[in-house]
Amino acid sequence: MQNFEFYNPVKIVFGKEQIKQLETLVPQRKKVMMLYGGGSIKSNGVYDQVVAALGGREVIEFSGIGANPQYDKMMEAIELAKKEDVEFLLAVGGGSVIDATKFVAASVHFEKDPWTILSERQRPSKVLPFGVVLTLPATGSEMNCFSVISKGDEKLGFGGDPRLFSKFSILDPEVTYSLNERQLGNGVVDAFVHVVEQYLTKPSNAPLQDRFAEGILQTLIEEGPKVIHVNEHYESRANVMWCATMALNGLIGSGIPHDWSTHMIGHELTGLFGIDHARTLAAVLPSVLRVQKENKREKLLQYARRVWNVQTPDADKSIEEAILLTEDFFNSMGLPTRLRVYKVEEKDIESIIKSLRNHIPVNLGENQDIDEAKVEEILRKAL
Ligand code: NZQ
Ligand code: ZN
Repeated sequence: MQNFEFYNPVKIVFGKEQIKQLETLVPQRKKVMMLYGGGSIKSNGVYDQVVAALGGREVIEFSGIGANPQYDKMMEAIELAKKEDVEFLLAVGGGSVIDATKFVAASVHFEKDPWTILSERQRPSKVLPFGVVLTLPATGSEMNCFSVISKGDEKLGFGGDPRLFSKFSILDPEVTYSLNERQLGNGVVDAFVHVVEQYLTKPSNAPLQDRFAEGILQTLIEEGPKVIHVNEHYESRANVMWCATMALNGLIGSGIPHDWSTHMIGHELTGLFGIDHARTLAAVLPSVLRVQKENKREKLLQYARRVWNVQTPDADKSIEEAILLTEDFFNSMGLPTRLRVYKVEEKDIESIIKSLRNHIPVNLGENQDIDEAKVEEILRKAL
């Protein structure tokens, strides 16, 4: 196992009717800015619950944050927060709203161009405190200190700063009943791929982390179909929600090598073609596993055996079987596993690689061996 530090101060408040706890969780005398998306919280009753719980506090609102939050929209929020002297932020939404809130929190007191927080990894001197009411289980942003922001067709991440952990995150599985099949499927697959990017690398004598990861993967395989096919099934909603949070809060990835090549390539596909985050992952991951088969051999065999119960004696066949089962699972969640569905063609590969190189000028993968030629091979296989 590698040396590591694990720190996660986020208070999780989980369960039915827990939004009312905002009453005690949000500071009484601070001016609050509530950030949310395009209106789902108004139609599903979450907005009313939040407003009721905030009571007589001084609250201003900022709405209309779209999926893959855009820098220009964030600048409007930052200006408003400055003008109103906001002291506490409350994100009510999915990963996009939470990531946007983290960016606002980091930028309000930042003297330079906020884009440099992303493009040059500049560190703000002060970060506003914030809390979260999660409405979409997927990204894990509610319990990690990372954020992804877009500017035009560029999509960049920042984080790793403990001030970007929320003070609390309220996870009420019932608020997910209003999600459509597409968002539910996206969420299950995003969480699944977060685990795979940490688990499916090379053996590192970390059996506990392996079993945490395998536990989350198997739970998602069992519970994922229920959230899609059984209406308002509380237990499966609760289990998937907790899986998604645990998949990317730092715990399962402590002391082990990570990959993240699927995510890095996926961000380019979202930036350039507007494909949903999880859908890029469903198309790229199987191809990464095939191209990196030799490097990932031991863990792929473990994945086949322990996660998918593949008993085929031939090693290559059992690896391919596990990858095919992974694709079937993504398809069963409603996510295609081919880029051609999104009209991404061979002629686009060059521009994807160019854009990736601009954002990440180093090789990808747990061995830093995914160079341009390998990215090309991965994309070709994913078409
Ligand atoms: O805007 P509204 O009307 O709220 O609709 C949203 C949005 O259209 C809707 N939605 C959310 N909760 C709902 C609901 N609809 C009905 N009922 C509810 N309860 O869902 C749509 C998608 O929401 P979004 O927040 O964009 O989805 P997600 O949570 O998948 O977030 C995706 C973003 O997170 C980033 C992605 O790159 C992408 O920008 N990620 C952030 C990570 C992190 N911070 O650690 C890691 C991830 O790998 C990922 O990169
Ligand atoms: Zn993701």
